Formats: sequence, C-alpha cells, structure tokens
Amino acid sequence: MKRESQRIAYYFFAVAMALFCLQILYGFIMAFAHTGYDVLHNVIPFNAARAVHINLLVVWLLMGFMGAAHFIIPDETGEDLYSLPLAKVQLVTMVIVGVVAVIGFHFNWWEGRKFLEIPRPLDYLVVINVLMFIWNIGMTLWRSARRTTTSIVLFMGLLAAALLYLPGMIDTDHQTMDAFWRWWVVHLWVEGVWELIMGAILAYLLIKLTGVDREVIEKWLYVIVGLTFLSGILGTGHHYYYIGTPSYWLWIGGIFSALEPLAFFGMAVYALAVARRGGRQHPNSLALSWTVGCAIMAFVGAGVLGFAHTLPQVNLWTHGTLVTAMHGHLAFWGAYAMLVLGMITYALPFLTGRKVYNSGVATFAFWTSNIGMVCMTAAMAVAGVTQVYLERRVGMDFLAVQQELAVHFVGVILAGALFALGILAFVYNFAKAGRPVGEVDPSGVG
Ligand code: HEM
Ligand code: HEM
Ligand SMILES: [Fe+2]
Repeated sequence: MKRESQRIAYYFFAVAMALFCLQILYGFIMAFAHTGYDVLHNVIPFNAARAVHINLLVVWLLMGFMGAAHFIIPDETGEDLYSLPLAKVQLVTMVIVGVVAVIGFHFNWWEGRKFLEIPRPLDYLVVINVLMFIWNIGMTLWRSARRTTTSIVLFMGLLAAALLYLPGMIDTDHQTMDAFWRWWVVHLWVEGVWELIMGAILAYLLIKLTGVDREVIEKWLYVIVGLTFLSGILGTGHHYYYIGTPSYWLWIGGIFSALEPLAFFGMAVYALAVARRGGRQHPNSLALSWTVGCAIMAFVGAGVLGFAHTLPQVNLWTHGTLVTAMHGHLAFWGAYAMLVLGMITYALPFLTGRKVYNSGVATFAFWTSNIGMVCMTAAMAVAGVTQVYLERRVGMDFLAVQQELAVHFVGVILAGALFALGILAFVYNFAKAGRPVGEVDPSGVG
C-alpha cells in the first residue's frame, strides 16, 4: 500500500460486510415464508423483506465498489486521495441514508418499484452523497500526472453509474414510462456501466496478481468495453416485451441481448488465460481464485442463465417467475459479489498491515459460499421451471402453484445455509485480520 488515505477503503469494506450479512438474513425470512413459515408476517411482511434484501444488496455492492475505488485510484496514481475528510463524511452519510431507508421499508415507506424502492426524499440525499464520492475520486485522478487506462475506465464506470441513477427519478404518472425509465437504471447498471467497473477492477487485480504486462491486460479492457456497449445498450429491450412499448422491441431486445454473453465470455476466457500465463507466483493465491472465479461465475450466471430466458419466445413463459430469481442470484453473485469479495481478499493484508494469506478459513469461505450459491441457484431453477409449467402451461392458480413449490424452498434454505456458512467464514476472517495498523510503505505493491 502506497498511501495512507487508501486505508479508508477498509471502513467501506467493513460496512459492506455488515450489510451483506443483514441481506442474507432477509433472504432466509423470505425463503421460510415460501415454505409456509411466515411467522414474522405482521412485523416484516414479504414485500418489506424483499425490498430490504435487494436494496441492501445494491448498497453493499456500491460500498464495495467505493472501497475498491478508494484503494485502487491512489495506488494507480501514486497520490493520496483529494480529500480524506470528504471520504469520511461520504461514508458516514451513506450509512445513515441506508439505515433510514431500511427502517422506512418496515414502516411501509417505499416507492414500490423493484430495486428502486428508496423514497424520493432519500434519492436526493443519495445524489448528493454520490456527487461527493465522484468529486473526490475525480479530483484525485485529475490532479495526478499518472492516469492509467484501468483507473480511467473505473472512474468512467462509476461516473456513468451515478448519472444513470437519475432516470429513476423522472416523475411520470404513466406506468409504461415509469417501467421504461426504471430499466434505464436497473438494466443499464448491471448489464452496462457496472460491467465497466467490473472490467476495470478485474484488470487491476490481474495486473497485480499475475504479473502479466499492463499493456496486454488493458488492451483487453477496451474489447470488453466495446462488447458491453454494443450488446448491452440495445439489449435493454429484453425488458420491454410486456410494459406497453412498441413491438419492435421484441426483435431489438432479443437480438442484442443474445449478444450480451459475449462480453462475459470474453472476461472469463481472458481471466483464465492471463492467470495461466502469469509467471509471478503471488503469495495471495486466494485473491486470484476470487478474481478468476468471478469472471467464470459471471459468465455462467449472467451470460448462460441470462441467455436462457432472454429470447421473446422463452421469456413469454418465464417472465417474472422464479426463473428470474434463479438467474438474478447467480448473476449478482458471480459478477459483483465475488468481485467485491476478491477485491477485499486482495486489499486486506495491505490495509491491515498483517500479511496473512490463504488461511484455512478463507479457503473454506471461498468453496463453501460458491458451492452453496450454485446449489441454491439449482433449487430455484427447479422451482422456476415447475412454476412456469404448472402456472402457465397447465393453467393452475398462482397460489395453488406456490403451495406446490414450497418443498423446493426447503432446498433453497439448506443450500442457503451452506452459502451463509461460507460467508460467515469470510466475515470471520475479515474481522480476525483486525483494524489497520503500522506504517505505510510508499514502495508497496498493493
Ligand atoms: C451481471 C449481470 C447481470 C445481472 C446482475 C442480472 C440480474 C438480473 C436481475 C436481478 C433481474 C430481475 C430484474 C427485475 O425484475 O427487476 C434480471 C432480469 C433479466 N435478465 Fe439479467 N442480469 C445480468 C445479465 C443478464 C444478461 C447478460 C442477460 C441476457 C443474456 C440477462 C437476461 C435477463 C432477462 C431476460 C431478464 C428478465 C426476466 C423476466 O422477464 O422476468 N441478464 N437480471
Ligand atoms: C442464504 C442466502 C439467500 C437466500 C435464502 C435468498 C433468498 C431469496 C428469496 C426467497 C428471494 C425472493 C424470491 C421471490 O421473489 O419469491 C430472493 C430475491 C433476490 N435475491 Fe436472494 N437470497 C439469498 C442471498 C442472496 C445473495 C447473496 C444475492 C446476491 C448476490 C441475492 C440476490 C437476490 C436478488 C437479486 C433477488 C431478486 C430476484 C428477482 O428479481 O426475482 N440473494 N432471495
Ligand atoms: Fe437486462
């Protein structure tokens, strides 16, 4: 680690870990409700649990990206953050807004738009908060003489993500327009600009962990950016089949979204190739496992399972069922959760000053969480396909089908328990590493 101000990343990561644990808790509340044990219904109804589960997911991932940016940008530029106090204020205010939103969901204070449930007054606070972050990171980059492709792509991804929050705040009383703009945020985030953030963080980690030339890795980053924009922007159309937009979206959405897996395929093949080619044996081999694992699981969860229901002929039957939840879990896990956990695994020894790598607990966390998530996705896949068949082919009543599906949620709970065990091990390892200590080494590689 080269710069003292990079240490702020530790606190972003710590908050991300805490919110992640809370997210999982609400996942269990919903899974139990699906099996008929909805004992918390009067306190935490399903809709509140769902809003908390998915909004916490987004917030902890953003915390993870912000932590990553605070670590990577000073490392790439060789300069301290523009303003450390601003970073601290931004972290604390973000936590406050998040906590208020989560409490509000329990009191029916929400907007009722999936993923964008945060009430409007809080949206404005989020905008101010993110402006502080973008300003701080942007000025750090601007002031520096060394601006690498990796750091510019990371910054552009974060800036674009901030700008794409705004369409979700456009006021309209037309339901089609509301759904239309909602997808500008949700889709263009995860299948657009977040992929730039992902590409940049993967590039950074691969440069550090494999020793392969920066020029080689950064050229690939351009290809990923190109493929993402080519397919992802018009691919938004795969969400416009039912919302009341013109029917040409069926073609546009189908064709362009079918190309989207290419970008994820590119990342997986490249990460694997670079990891094999890398001559340097970095002591933190588990960080490389998370990095390569992220690229591979993203391809499976987003690319393969996304493709599985993206064509209008298939989506006609699967739309809004547990098939969507199946894909949502593995895609978010592979692409973005594993990315943040990989970044933490890499940065933690530098941040805490304790160079402990690859402990047994950390290895256990990697395998158990991944196996648990794959099993949970499989259980949801079985439930989803059964739901499509019974509800939409056989024509059974929605609630009667939900009762048939209850048994599959026992599988979700068991697999979820395995997954949660892995995450607890990860968090234990994080906590055990302790708070940051010691001197910063300006020649440090991290
Ligand atoms: C990392 C990238 C991705 C993530 C995190 C992700 C996550 C999600 C989530 C959470 C939903 C549900 C959204 C909602 O209803 O509000 C969704 C829907 C969908 N995703 Fe993805 N996805 C990713 C990439 C892809 C890709 C590459 C494809 C296609 C090749 C795809 C195809 C779809 C389709 C067709 C739907 C709509 C499902 C429905 O009709 O209910 N996704 N995705
Ligand atoms: C033990 C862990 C977990 C359990 C038991 C769990 C369970 C659930 C359940 C029951 C739902 C609601 C499905 C429905 O609408 O009926 C859900 C939704 C969702 N969960 Fe989880 N979850 C867990 C962890 C995670 C993780 C780690 C992620 C992301 C990396 C995640 C992402 C999502 C998303 C994106 C949705 C919305 C899916 C959609 O749009 O249909 N969950 N989860
Ligand atoms: Fe999409």
